Amino acid sequence: MDKKVTVIGAGNVGATAAQRLAEKELCDVVLVDIIEGVPQGKALDLTQAAPIEKHDAHLVGANAYDATAGSDIVIITAGIPRKPGMSRDDLLTTNAGIVKKVTQEVAGRSPRAVLIIVSNPLDAMCHVAFDASKFPTRISAEVKNWSVEKVGEDPEVWKYRGRHSQFAAAAAESVTMRSAGVVSSMLRRASPEASQSIQWRLRSRRRRQ
Ligand SMILES: NC(=O)c1ccc[n+]([C@@H]2O[C@H](COP(=O)([O-])OP(=O)(O)OC[C@H]3O[C@@H](n4cnc5c(N)ncnc54)[C@H](O)[C@@H]3O)[C@@H](O)[C@H]2O)c1
Repeated sequence: MDKKVTVIGAGNVGATAAQRLAEKELCDVVLVDIIEGVPQGKALDLTQAAPIEKHDAHLVGANAYDATAGSDIVIITAGIPRKPGMSRDDLLTTNAGIVKKVTQEVAGRSPRAVLIIVSNPLDAMCHVAFDASKFPTRISAEVKNWSVEKVGEDPEVWKYRGRHSQFAAAAAESVTMRSAGVVSSMLRRASPEASQSIQWRLRSRRRRQ
């Protein structure tokens, strides 16, 4: 595949994301987790299911970050999920530390990647990742155009299409950073209408800054 996506956190969300990406043949997938053996085992399971699911994606599981180098997209799902009685905000301190560390690991190795943050509390984690990435610019609205262009649908619509789609919508909405280089390549790929809209949003954002 010509695209590479890294998924950090091989738990419920991360493993499901890896499975969906592979089965739709959208990209090769690198699955990373802190627990030894878990991402490797899940990547192997998905690889062994490939002939049955009829996909050709290459999957790698790892505990270290070298395999993530050159990713087009990095999806960060690492962290602790809520337990009964907890609010998303109760996850703040723990997940901020995790998200900061994993972002630092991936950003240097994939400086042109789009970061998609899933870990909760989502808004705060986006800021943590943005700061830790040191990526030069920060754009969110353009993701909508990009997803309309690539997937053919507004992420708002995905919200109403079941549980896995909710993940996709939340992920797409929460992308808040990308490098200028990625924006340029996005513009090159986009349709004239989408490209015009992206450029308009970029100009408005610059005016506001
Ligand atoms: N944004 C959303 O719509 C949305 C939806 C569902 C879950 N979430 C959030 O996503 C996160 C993950 O949820 P889940 O259900 O997959 O949890 P999970 O416990 O099943 O998976 C989390 C994984 O992250 C790993 N991890 C922890 N620290 C790590 C580190 N430093 N480096 C690499 N991996 C690490 C864990 O080992 C675990 O496998 C939670 O914060 C949850 O609240 C967000």
